Formats: sequence, C-alpha cells, structure tokens
Amino acid sequence: MKRDNIGIGVIGAGRIGTLRARLAAKHPSVRYLAISDKDPARAKALAEQAGADRHTGSNEDVINDPKVTAVIVSTPEQEHTLPILQALKLGKPVLVEKPIGFSLSDADKILETLRQTKGDLRVGYSRRYKECFLRAKEQMLHGRLGKVVGGTARVYNSRAQAFAILKRDPHATPVLDVLTYYVDLMCWFLEGNRPVEVVARGQHGIFKEAGFGAHDVTWAIVTFADGAVINLGVSYALPAKYPTLGQSDRVELLGTEGTMIIDDDHMDHLLFSEKGIPHAYVPDHAVNMAFLGSNTAGDWAVGDFWGPLGNETRAWLDSLATGAPTVHTTPQQARINLETTIAIERAVASGQSVRLPLQSED
Ligand SMILES: NC(=O)c1ccc[n+]([C@@H]2O[C@H](COP(=O)([O-])OP(=O)(O)OC[C@H]3O[C@@H](n4cnc5c(N)ncnc54)[C@H](O)[C@@H]3O)[C@@H](O)[C@H]2O)c1
Repeated sequence: MKRDNIGIGVIGAGRIGTLRARLAAKHPSVRYLAISDKDPARAKALAEQAGADRHTGSNEDVINDPKVTAVIVSTPEQEHTLPILQALKLGKPVLVEKPIGFSLSDADKILETLRQTKGDLRVGYSRRYKECFLRAKEQMLHGRLGKVVGGTARVYNSRAQAFAILKRDPHATPVLDVLTYYVDLMCWFLEGNRPVEVVARGQHGIFKEAGFGAHDVTWAIVTFADGAVINLGVSYALPAKYPTLGQSDRVELLGTEGTMIIDDDHMDHLLFSEKGIPHAYVPDHAVNMAFLGSNTAGDWAVGDFWGPLGNETRAWLDSLATGAPTVHTTPQQARINLETTIAIERAVASGQSVRLPLQSED
C-alpha cells in the first residue's frame, strides 16, 4: 500500500532545514508541510520560500500538529534531542541531521525512547547517498575486495566553512562534526565489524589562534574488531579561498582480493570566474576558482536539487510512502559514530590509545 498523504514537519529553518523543506515540498506524496524555528522570522521566510502550509516559533506546535505524520529535525547538533523525543513519543517517524548529538547520554536517552516506543529514527549521514559511495557499498555487498585488512579516508575543506560551523557551535569540531561521516562510511563498508581501538594525534593552529579548541589537523588510526586498520584524517583549515566548496575527500579500501580507491577531490570539475563564485554554505564568501561538485549537500541546477542531500531526503520520503527499506544510518550506528569520534578526541588529548566501547562519559 502506498501512502500519498504524508505531512512533514521541519524543525529548524537554517541552511539544511531549508533544503529538506524545499525537497519535501516537491515530493509527490507530501500533502502538508509545517516549519518551526526558534526564530519565527526564519520559519516564516522558509515557509514562504517552500510554499509551506504553516510556520511557527514553536517546535511542539508543529510536532503535535495532527496533519504532520513525520518529522525532520534540522536544528544545530545540541538541539536535536528534545524534538526527536517529542516526535517519537507521538509515534511519528523522524529523520535527524548528523551527528545524533554531542553527548552519549543524550544518544542513550533517544535509544531508550526508541525501545519504549518501537519508533522509527534515521540519522542524516548524507555521505552515504553520494553516488560514488553508494556504488562502493554495492561492490562491498558483492564481496569484491575479499577481507578488508585496512584503508584510509581523509577529508579536507577550507577554513571559511570551518569558521561558519564553529560559529554555529564551538563544540562542532571537524572530528565530531565531519570526520563522523567517514567513521559512518567505513563502518557501513565494513558492516558487522565495529571500531575497538583508537590512536590519534592532532595539531593546533589557526582555530586555536581564533579562540576555538578545534585542531587544524587530526589523524587517527582506528582498529576494527577483526583487526582491520583504518586511517581517518581531517583538516578543515585549508586557506579560505581554496577552491573546494565543501568536503573534498579520498577513500581507499584494501582487501585480500581487491582494492577500491575513490577519488572524491572534485578536481575534475573546475570553474574559474573573475566575477566570483558564491559559497552556498558560507554567506558573503566567494571564490574565483571552484571545484564544482564539491558542495557537501549537493547543488541546485536547472530548477531542482541534485546530490547527496537530495538523494537522501527523497529516499527517506519514498520510504515513508512505500515502506521500502533504505540505507539511512540507524540510531545504533549513529551512537557508534559518536562514540568513535569522542574516542578520537580523547586519544588526541591524552596521547594514549583509547579502547571502545568507552567505559564512561568523562
Ligand atoms: N547532511 C549535510 O550535508 C549537512 C551539512 C551541514 C550541516 N548538517 C547538519 O545540519 C544541522 C543544522 O546545520 P545548519 O548548517 O542547517 O545550521 P544553521 O545554523 O544554518 O540552522 C539551524 C537553524 O536551527 C534554528 N534553531 C536553533 N535551535 C533551535 C531550536 N531549539 N528549535 C528550533 N530551531 C532552532 C536556528 O535558528 C537556525 O535557523 C546540524 O546538525 C549539522 O551538523 C548536515
């Protein structure tokens, strides 16, 4: 049975909430759209842009609205928990942005509510929905690499975007907020095999000078339960005018019977303009040279939105309409991703290896 009377509530009308709401408004099974933001003017502006039926400064009014049958939580990281719990208690499916939060106790509260309500929660690790990574997962499902013994994933971005993220929340470090995507990807590729130990080092530089605790560069070696060693690295401190407009990354998997190298640095999509090229995520920032295709979420082109966040949102809305299974990150995996990134930061801070699962929050 297909449902064609879906009502979506979007909580948080910022950059990502805007994309989700505009995509929901275009979906053929979505008949009702309501937006809330703690800043009612933002909710109103997005409602007008997306053609939503309702806007308000109250999250609860949207979540409780009987015409809202499913909820998207696009608030900043530390504001995810409450709207998720409220929606789950009403039996409404939820898609929340990554990471699930910044604290394991909040993640555990969510998992406990899920157990009690038997609810449905997925976490927006949109990297999974980048087509190169969907293709890679397909190869893993076919077992083409044999047993994976190691690999690497590293991601770069310009400091312009890092400062925009740190301004949203100074706790949103490149490790907790970005490297988490690559922990998620590696765990997905190595499904059933979880991280058990972390060794990591980080180096301070421009972020510290600007008053933030984040490192400019973090490198980690994560050992998985079967012994596979995965190198994960992040630097969001590249010069502000470096041509990337989002994550530029490289992912490599080394197996006993095969190797997969995914060059996702976008250097094959070059645009130069003396007029300047605006940055979709960072207001008032423009570059003269851009790696097209590097915008992490994706891009508007010829009237529609294309890319990982578009694929991910449509796949979630499709699953609400058809009940078909999807590969969106589960809350259990999201907790492992959070725990692993916390372990990486602890390993950097202490210089010691850190075992997983973590024994305590402090
Ligand atoms: N999947 C992706 O590609 C992707 C990319 C960037 C960010 N994100 C994630 O999306 C989330 C939001 O990031 P963003 O860049 O859109 O942030 P943003 O700052 O642009 O937007 C956040 C919005 O939430 C509102 N808000 C804050 N607290 C609220 C509350 N308690 N209730 C209601 N509204 C509240 C703010 O007023 C703002 O409008 C984060 O979790 C981030 O990690 C995902």
